[in-house]
Amino acid sequence: MERVIDLHLKNLSFDHCPDRRSKSESNKWRRYPADVLPMWVADMDCLSAPSIQQALKERVEHGVFGYGRPLPGLYELLCKRMETKYDWKVDPSWIRFSAGVIVAVNQIIDAVSENGDAVLVQTPAYPPLLETPGCRKLECILSPLVSDHNGRFEIDFEILEKSITDRTRFFLFCNPHNPTGRVFTRSELEKLAEICLRHNLIILSDEIHQDIVYSDHKHIPIASLDKEIEQRTITISSASKTYNIAGLKCAYAIIPNKELQSAYDNGGKGLVDSVNVLGLTATEEAFRSGDGWLKDCLGYLKNNRNYLINEINKIKGIQVFAPEGTFLAWLDCSELMLGSSPAEFFLMNAKIAFNDGATFGDGYSNFVRMNFGCSFEILKNAIAAMKAALDAL
Ligand SMILES: Cc1ncc(COP(=O)(O)O)c(C=O)c1O
Repeated sequence: MERVIDLHLKNLSFDHCPDRRSKSESNKWRRYPADVLPMWVADMDCLSAPSIQQALKERVEHGVFGYGRPLPGLYELLCKRMETKYDWKVDPSWIRFSAGVIVAVNQIIDAVSENGDAVLVQTPAYPPLLETPGCRKLECILSPLVSDHNGRFEIDFEILEKSITDRTRFFLFCNPHNPTGRVFTRSELEKLAEICLRHNLIILSDEIHQDIVYSDHKHIPIASLDKEIEQRTITISSASKTYNIAGLKCAYAIIPNKELQSAYDNGGKGLVDSVNVLGLTATEEAFRSGDGWLKDCLGYLKNNRNYLINEINKIKGIQVFAPEGTFLAWLDCSELMLGSSPAEFFLMNAKIAFNDGATFGDGYSNFVRMNFGCSFEILKNAIAAMKAALDAL
């Protein structure tokens, strides 16, 4: 009985989503008019863990917010976490904190690249990853993942290897993968690593969704495969997705290779370790005490995911594959024949804001990305509104 009550109370805390539209500056909730349900940008609507809120309150009460420097305890907690959760021994000297994953990716490419280098990116891709090479004035080589008849995206290793040119210097990888929800297996990672070694590529591995992984799947940092691949990989991640603290802007890069470390440090003068002090506090507390909350959160998200897959599969014309990780679903709406933009259709007719598939690379304009990191009630309302809009056609 106690356990039932306990679970009920825990669920209530994920069911309860504070008013983000009028009581906060939320990008997700304020971008669209008040009658639109936002199912787009990848943050969750739930409160962050009580222990994180408490740590932040204490830090705010301190009252002084000068420049920060991560405390030694944070490095230790991160290394311990990497070893216990991901079986990867990280040395504290490899870690660099940053104001965000995308900030760090841009900074690394700037620091390490030379004129004429190219960056290999798999599509569909989280739009800022797609845009980063161009922003850094490098060529972006796109290599599409391929979808099987169930809508599960996989790597076609032949296509990938063929797209590598003499100028390709970086492989910008995303695992768990946004937007497809794939959590790549050890065998897939080994094949990728082998290709990167053969072509002398530096792997920039964005693993920000590493903790949001559902049962039967396991996140493996690509750098943890072996020492050789570790030396050519920079892993960039954050506690931000896991603990819903993205607005606090704190991420980290793990750079085992000494030359890459120096390039990063020298290239980023004035930027290195420029981190929000509240982000450092929240991240440290998350790593110290966040495991229990994360377990409950994953249970809630899994229930949302299962409901979504079940319901969306009842809609004729939409194909969706159950994401193995992330709180994002990648909906193929091609067969609905909604015209050039299903995202626009759902915005106008269902008052639901999704991410438009077109922004994830060429060939995905018939997809929408749906964020299910919300209360069960919001999810139910969103799917009901989608169905009603389609029924009215
Ligand atoms: C794969 C991926 N990388 C990076 C980010 C953004 O991270 P940050 O806000 O730390 O730049 C996101 C956010 O949705 C993401 O999904």
